[in-house]
Amino acid sequence: MFDVLYANGLYVLTSQAAGFLAGQKYSASAIEKKKYRYYNEGMTADKFEYRQDVAFINRDKELHDLKIFVDKRPSEILFLHGPKSSGKTTLLYKFLEKLGKEQKVNVKFLNLRKTFTEFSDEYNYKDFLSVFFKVDDKSEKKGKIAAGINVGLFKINSQIDMKMRQGKVDPFKVMEKEFIRLNKKGTKPILIIDELQALDKIYMDNGRDRRLIIELFNFFVAMTKESHLAHIIIASSDGYFINTLYTDSRLKKSSIFYRVDYLPKEDVMEWLLNLEKYSKIKDYILTKEDAEKIWETVGGSMWEIQDILFKLFRSPLDDVLGLYKKKMRSLIVDYVVKPEQEEIEKLLRRFVDREELPKEEINSEEEKLLRDMVRQNILYFDPTEATYYPQGKSFHHGIRLYFEKK
Ligand SMILES: Nc1ncnc2c1ncn2[C@@H]1O[C@H](COP(=O)(O)OP(=O)(O)OP(=O)(O)O)[C@@H](O)[C@H]1O
Ligand SMILES: [Mg+2]
Repeated sequence: MFDVLYANGLYVLTSQAAGFLAGQKYSASAIEKKKYRYYNEGMTADKFEYRQDVAFINRDKELHDLKIFVDKRPSEILFLHGPKSSGKTTLLYKFLEKLGKEQKVNVKFLNLRKTFTEFSDEYNYKDFLSVFFKVDDKSEKKGKIAAGINVGLFKINSQIDMKMRQGKVDPFKVMEKEFIRLNKKGTKPILIIDELQALDKIYMDNGRDRRLIIELFNFFVAMTKESHLAHIIIASSDGYFINTLYTDSRLKKSSIFYRVDYLPKEDVMEWLLNLEKYSKIKDYILTKEDAEKIWETVGGSMWEIQDILFKLFRSPLDDVLGLYKKKMRSLIVDYVVKPEQEEIEKLLRRFVDREELPKEEINSEEEKLLRDMVRQNILYFDPTEATYYPQGKSFHHGIRLYFEKK
């Protein structure tokens, strides 16, 4: 599972399966022991001494805005959108960690990307039930239910579970009852669904024409705008999925759309000039000029900054950034090789001298191609502005380099 690299006089573990293990400092003989401990104790992070830690920079404004949202009586659904890896999930985790210390809340957090990778591509209604509801008969003293039941959100007993699967009990009623119970107890219910688009293609069991997602939205509107029972927060990086919601007039009127973006320059500079403070990196420091170069290459994309910081343990900055740009260019090269190459190039060329492309400037044929580029995460589509952007600075460089060398 682990690759071992020898760098800077130290052994560095890199792991494909678990990126977060990368960069630890061990003597060769300790590696086996650590592996053993890792497998036997799970990830007890505090026992490791990291050479590079996962940073969390700023987000004061976003955390404040989320707090304001949950301190108001539930009245609308909150949709968090933003480019790929802009930090939506991390922000939510951080927010909940803080909120849990301050208030009596009951958070039901569903990360559908994580959960649904366990299923096949063909999600069905029963998968939805398994993911949302957790069968727990403990309170009824019936003993422990068989292991292997999927971890869900709303606790139900096995009888209800059975009836729900037979279509005799309405899952939305079960959820509503739980929200009512929590409200009576003086606990704020917060339902968070990350990557909701995973449910997009599911239909209700008792009618092929009833789409689950529509039923869910009806329910969310009822729980927020109408009965004010629970906070509902939904995150997705699928700009097109969010767009269908944004253009639905009923949802638009009962929702807030909030963009979570990459970090602004001042945050990136603060991070890069204080590596020990934010990333626990002691092996090297960066000058202002170095930090500027990183910003110029990847902008505020945190995932890429972390990746570059890791690579700097082994190689000089200019080499790392040079390779990075080459990589971004080759991603564009790989993408463009398609029957529609000419049309794709024509579209991408429009980003050479500009940052964005408004939807008004494109026709429906072009839109099809752009849609695919959004799905492939080359571009990001912001539904609230109806505008296409390259997915971060690095993709923008990739696009420019592609045309420079042509
Ligand atoms: N405030 C932050 N400071 C530094 N790094 C961050 C911050 N927020 C997120 N990151 C890092 O950025 C990367 C992407 O974060 P995250 O997965 O939360 O993004 P996302 O928007 O949910 O992505 P996706 O679009 O794939 O759902 C992670 O490596 C995370 O550690
Ligand atoms: Mg996410």
